[in-house]
Amino acid sequence: MKLKIAVLPGDGIGPEISRVGVDVMKAVAERFGHEFMFDYGFAGASAIKATGNPFPQETFDLCKDSDAVLFSAVGDPAYDNNPDAKVRPEQGLLAMRKQLGLFANIRPIQTFPGLEDKSPLKEDIVKGADFVCVRELTGGMYFGDKFESDDKAFDTNMYTRHEIERILKVAFELASRRRKHLTVVDKANVLASSRLWRKVAQEMEKEWPEVEIDYMFVDNAAMKMIQEPRFFDVIVTENTFGDILTDEASVVSGSMGLLPSSSIGESTPVFEPIHGSWPQAAGLDIANPLAQVLSVAMLLEHFGLSDEGKAVRDAVDASIRHGVVTPDLGKDGKSEYGTEAVGRWLSAWVLKYGA
Ligand code: IPM
Ligand code: MN
Repeated sequence: MKLKIAVLPGDGIGPEISRVGVDVMKAVAERFGHEFMFDYGFAGASAIKATGNPFPQETFDLCKDSDAVLFSAVGDPAYDNNPDAKVRPEQGLLAMRKQLGLFANIRPIQTFPGLEDKSPLKEDIVKGADFVCVRELTGGMYFGDKFESDDKAFDTNMYTRHEIERILKVAFELASRRRKHLTVVDKANVLASSRLWRKVAQEMEKEWPEVEIDYMFVDNAAMKMIQEPRFFDVIVTENTFGDILTDEASVVSGSMGLLPSSSIGESTPVFEPIHGSWPQAAGLDIANPLAQVLSVAMLLEHFGLSDEGKAVRDAVDASIRHGVVTPDLGKDGKSEYGTEAVGRWLSAWVLKYGA
């Protein structure tokens, strides 16, 4: 298969994990006889520096013109600490999601055999947890009307029926292919927008009789997720709740550095880790590349390359089994392997896959 990949390394640890992701894809191409072409674009703080815009037109054109985007991370503390900044790196990510119409963000959460002790939660609670959070990605407070002055500010949490229906459809379909259990997470006891979500979901339930559905308030879901993570199969929720719940969910896996995601919708799909740019670690060769590498697996699977996806997942499992991991997954937070070394090991493993 021929695939044209737009690579957006972004900021902080982004470029380091991006290199690992691209190398693993090159190993897959060589091992399985595919042709993957990579073109690089600016996004985030690095794009602001280069062009003044966190998601410049040329990056948009590159994405539009590609089969998939391999994205890493954006963010820079210089902007976090300056509430008056007129442009922010994160706006680049949001612009990308909006302009490409990526309304569905799929975030699978699982525990990895051998890493159960990395979660601060008890092993018998997290063991075997395996669920997917379907996060709405182009609506809600992130994109609603905003107002900002020195004495008053607001964000509007607006959703249309159309936006709710299309994301629920993705979630119902996913649930029907998995363990057929869908949890709709909202705050319908307080928020009007949540009540519309619930109404639409209740209407759509009838079309998916095989899917068991339950409705849960977001505060309760936040508790349930760490009390009994195995309860969940597919969760669907709005943008802001999904953002918060998936950081929480990463605690079940044991490290933020383990969770990949895919964002799909109207145009080119994007594959990216759920974690941020971790600027404190940039250049230190300690960032865990596995979330990026698992995003590559999701990319391959998206194009029906399931053996290739499995090769990448097997490589990740094997690296964990052999202790070839970055310090966040090492014993007592230490490891002799850095980002690059783990990347080299994974690529070598993929090249030898099945041999
Ligand atoms: C995420 C991130 C982004 C978000 C930030 C960087 C804008 O936290 O992908 O979860 O809030 O969506
Ligand atoms: Mn987030």
